[in-house]
Amino acid sequence: MKLQNKVKILVVGDIVGKGARNAFINYLPKLKEKYDYDLIAINAENTTHGKGLNYKHYKLYHEHHIDVLTMGNHLLDNVEIYDYIDKIDNIVVPGNVEYNDQIFNNHKKFSIIFENKEIIFLNLLSVSAGQKFLENINEPLSYFDNIYNLNHNAIYIIDYHAEYTLEKNLLAYYVDNRASLVYGTHTHVQTSDERILPNGTGFISDVGMCGAVDSIIGYDYQSYINKFKNGGASEIAKKGPYMINALYAEISLENKKVIKLERINQKL
Ligand SMILES: [Fe+2]
Ligand SMILES: [Fe+2]
Repeated sequence: MKLQNKVKILVVGDIVGKGARNAFINYLPKLKEKYDYDLIAINAENTTHGKGLNYKHYKLYHEHHIDVLTMGNHLLDNVEIYDYIDKIDNIVVPGNVEYNDQIFNNHKKFSIIFENKEIIFLNLLSVSAGQKFLENINEPLSYFDNIYNLNHNAIYIIDYHAEYTLEKNLLAYYVDNRASLVYGTHTHVQTSDERILPNGTGFISDVGMCGAVDSIIGYDYQSYINKFKNGGASEIAKKGPYMINALYAEISLENKKVIKLERINQKL
């Protein structure tokens, strides 16, 4: 069999709550048919009622052949994760955080061998998005340097969970030529600035979300307005249509540069 000279990767923005989770799962066969991707990574931090990821939903993704699940500031919001994360290997937690619980320190990267090439998925967290972890967040640029210096040959895919477009651009240009793909998550709003940087790294400031179109970043807008004015809790938006936001990238296995990049924004 002739080896492919590229790997086709689909990365999906934060999936927010039940309606979006179901919309995404239902749309998955169409994504597979259209892009015929080799690997798929999703940001799963808002999967279970908008906060964290319980075991049932981890299993749902597993049954639908999701290869990699990255997280973010909501990592610890669903406490079930403490019970199951050490039994599985494809959840990637923000790597530049020092965790009090060792089980999370063991999940700072996920590596797959694809046609003899190692592909390493990383999840980084900015101070702007990770107030809960504030005193435990290391500077992400130096963190990447340390990881990269252990292995110059791998293909690196980075989900950078951060609030500001500037910091996402800054990280992307910093790793241009060392990482193959950098995509922002966390804002839940897709940016239309996807591009291949001068040295071959594919980049988008924020890949967006899978969530209700008529919502405030996937949450019910009326409850969010009430929360803003009077306090209380925001609820997940329960009514469609839903948007599926993702990014498709083809990466050369020879020089690790992105050959093709396509932004996906599908309304269902
Ligand atoms: Fe999120
Ligand atoms: Fe987030």
